[in-house]
Amino acid sequence: MQAVKIVEDVFWAGAINWTFDFYGLSIQRGTTYNAYVVKSGDKSAVIDTSHPNHYEEFMTRVKSIVNPEKIDYVICNHAEPDHSFGIPILMKEAVNAKVVATPKCVAMLRRLYPPADYDYIEVKEDDTLKLGEKTFRFIEAPFMHWPEVMFTYLEEDKILFPCDGFAAHIAPTNLFADKAKDIKDDAAKYFAFIFRPFAKKVRQAIEKVRKLDLKIIAPSHGPIIRENPTEVLDLWEKWSSEEWIGENKVVIAYNTMWGADKLMAETIADSIMEEDIEVNFFDLETAPVADVLKECFESKAIVLGSLTVFGGPFPHVYAVLPFLKLMRPQGKIGAAFGVHGWSGGSARKIDEAMKELKMDFIEPALAVVLRPDEEELQKCIELGKEIAKRVKAT
Ligand code: FEO
Repeated sequence: MQAVKIVEDVFWAGAINWTFDFYGLSIQRGTTYNAYVVKSGDKSAVIDTSHPNHYEEFMTRVKSIVNPEKIDYVICNHAEPDHSFGIPILMKEAVNAKVVATPKCVAMLRRLYPPADYDYIEVKEDDTLKLGEKTFRFIEAPFMHWPEVMFTYLEEDKILFPCDGFAAHIAPTNLFADKAKDIKDDAAKYFAFIFRPFAKKVRQAIEKVRKLDLKIIAPSHGPIIRENPTEVLDLWEKWSSEEWIGENKVVIAYNTMWGADKLMAETIADSIMEEDIEVNFFDLETAPVADVLKECFESKAIVLGSLTVFGGPFPHVYAVLPFLKLMRPQGKIGAAFGVHGWSGGSARKIDEAMKELKMDFIEPALAVVLRPDEEELQKCIELGKEIAKRVKAT
């Protein structure tokens, strides 16, 4: 395992995780924990480290490019263990290194890896640090997505190291975005869970980054962006804007026991597609929750349906609703349907949840007994038409 050259004297020294569970949500395409080594003459710095399960790979790549005893600085942009766990391991061998971080990050490192009694350099907004002929500039980026986060900018090479910022969870076919598979879907999935709740902080961080002369964005997950780095800033700015409610597409997600909910879901979907609107259709029993949520984030309309169990929806629906709240879906179009045997509840509970999230809910929630009759299927068709109308109008 070798470090990979990005530009002269700047190397990727991270680790790859081909299968990945992320806050309990399976992300099928994996991720990377990107760490970097920067050299200048006889000076060396490491930027971020690695996940607990991947520190050996990280250490091997670092050692392929620098003797740890020769490392001058270990820069910690973010204390979350997928980027900081390698610090106490590296520092055992990097006996001459100073750890560079914000004061809040230093406090977190002491808490996470006691005693973490290193020689620290605490930095704040716009501080600089020389590494031989090269210059690091530090940019505070609080709540991207933890409070202690900073970005590191390497002035001479015009490279931004934003840790989780502008990243994507994907184990790439190539380390460089211009040679990897299209990562927009992976980036959207990642943004939806982690950064949408901090939309205002994301916009503030982007405002700072736009002032930089930027050639490369080297995040800590997924591919390195060395072509058109402002494109990813534009994308993140769009996703974090208050006005953005999604693309012109609809998610229909349901569960079923005897097929009645599926019939309603299919009828609504057909009706929407007849209006030339994209539908993404999920059976919640088998669909990866991360994929459902990513489409919910990207879509203007969300339709949820469920059989009724003990007066409410089946638990699969509750795997989606709490995450919807994190995505701040205010203004998205919402609709609900449900099937019950003798006393209802599923459609009403979804209806209540969507209204609580301040979604633009289409009345009424469609609740049917056992199986929809012709009249009720007609109502599904009408619901589909109304969803399509509102999607086109927003
Ligand atoms: Fe990739 Fe916030 O850790």
